[in-house]
Amino acid sequence: MTIQVTRVARALGAVVSGVDLSDELSQPDIDRLGELLIEHQILFFRGQPITPQQHARFAARFGTLHVHPIYPVLPELPEIMLIDTHPGFLPDNDNWHTDVTFSQTPPMAGILAAKLLPAAGGDTLWSSSSAVYETLSAPLRLFLEGLTAQHSVAKSFPAERWANDPASKSRYERAVAKHPPVNHPVVRTHPVSGRKGLFVNEGFTTHINELSPHESQAVLAFLFAQAGRPELTVRWNWKVDDIAFWDNRVTQHYAIADYLPERRTMHRATVNGDKPF
Ligand code: SIN
Repeated sequence: MTIQVTRVARALGAVVSGVDLSDELSQPDIDRLGELLIEHQILFFRGQPITPQQHARFAARFGTLHVHPIYPVLPELPEIMLIDTHPGFLPDNDNWHTDVTFSQTPPMAGILAAKLLPAAGGDTLWSSSSAVYETLSAPLRLFLEGLTAQHSVAKSFPAERWANDPASKSRYERAVAKHPPVNHPVVRTHPVSGRKGLFVNEGFTTHINELSPHESQAVLAFLFAQAGRPELTVRWNWKVDDIAFWDNRVTQHYAIADYLPERRTMHRATVNGDKPF
């Protein structure tokens, strides 16, 4: 199998072809994809009609799989999260976020498969947190180094959304009780590349611990805004059976919610990660 790689944006992103993700891939192919993920931060694959089982099998080659404590999952395979958005289940991921930073050990990767798409719209943007960090001036980087920020599950998952039926309410309450707010460094070092990246996100980060509330709010507003700088992002226009595989340690993403009342259905496998440092 010859893997081909084409970059799609300056800061991050490459399209990978010559690989069939429904196959049991060889270890050299998995290693190559792992290296490409570190290099490009997000890999896109076109035309990969994988089943949920093949999706989970591919993801599990990179680590153990996370089961989302709040979001719907496939009943027969809870390692596959279901993002099925429509007028009866509104999108809530149209904000810049890194997945599951409310955990002490946030995921190392997300693998998203497009199953059902609107006629137009529903693109996703990813931003490179290392590219953002590298645009900051040396004095600002120095100021941010050594700071820590708190991340909370309740910021992105407000109780009202999950209170509409007793089963989802009780699952939500258990998840919140199990995930008290956690602290992570504001600047994270990638455990493989050694590259530094900003590790705060609008979805889950509530405040910087060492600053006063007003200072924290102002600094975070500035840092959150940097994720959306177009030159530091890549935008993907989905086709059914596309797959995106991102390094969650060094990226944020934003799913554009411009398609209602049409429906958009995605499956996500999430690979567990390490404690940020
Ligand atoms: C996500 O927020 O993890 C999924 C993004 C998307 O639905 O495009």
